Amino acid sequence: MNTERPVILKLGGSAITDKTGELAAKTEVINRLAEEIKRADLDNLIIVHGGGSFGHPTAAKYGIKDGYKEDPAQKIGFAETHHVMTVLNGLVMDALIWHEIPAVSVAPSSCMVTENGKVKYFDETVFKSMAKLVFTPVMYGDAVLDEKLGFTILSGDQLVAYLAIKYNAKKIVIGTDTDGLFDSDPKTNPNAKPYKHLTLKELKEIQPKLGKATGTDVTGGMASKIAELIPAIEQGTHVTITGATKGLSIYRALTDQSILGTEIEKA
Ligand code: IPE
Repeated sequence: MNTERPVILKLGGSAITDKTGELAAKTEVINRLAEEIKRADLDNLIIVHGGGSFGHPTAAKYGIKDGYKEDPAQKIGFAETHHVMTVLNGLVMDALIWHEIPAVSVAPSSCMVTENGKVKYFDETVFKSMAKLVFTPVMYGDAVLDEKLGFTILSGDQLVAYLAIKYNAKKIVIGTDTDGLFDSDPKTNPNAKPYKHLTLKELKEIQPKLGKATGTDVTGGMASKIAELIPAIEQGTHVTITGATKGLSIYRALTDQSILGTEIEKA
């Protein structure tokens, strides 16, 4: 990341983990993604990854998203949710650094506090210093402290939209386990039709019908992920949603080439 407008890449939990398992990382996918990111060679990149089968099952077990209900076991659950996210983050960092990307992990739980689930404070001192030295910050969906709820889950998608708005991002690239958005679930319906291009108005129309997640997902399926991204699209950030589990789609999306997936624009 440098002082130019950033490109924000989200590596979805469904792409980098097996969401039907528990603590099941797709290490081959993570390595291939690191290779694609290296090949794209962007100085202005911010990476955010999701929780998949690391964050979600633990967060669900202890009801972390709904906040602290005076149950001491939840405090262990909060600690464990953050911890398993650092384990997944470690695997992502291993792959990025091994590919000689100057990636440095920034834990949202250490620099952000939410209010009713929405980011209220962000200490960006570290982020700004990283930008000057052209590091690649890597954030992730995390268990965070919340001024009203005690604690909650901050999703990677909300983080992406927040950072995109704050730093006037050039574009957002979302890497998932399907080639973009479809009119029905392509994993169960072979006739599902892909949406190649959507305006904000069209996106809002189809958004409630977008699918539920496979496996445990405390932050909701594609419909809620898109709802989180809408404020950034409203501000004018271009969003590309593409498959991250195979091919070169992430490299192509990062370098502004055509991809198999969905392009979303304000108008
Ligand atoms: C969730 O982040 C993080 C935790 C549950 C701790 P996301 O909501 O962005 O994760 P994915 O991409 O859906 O797995």
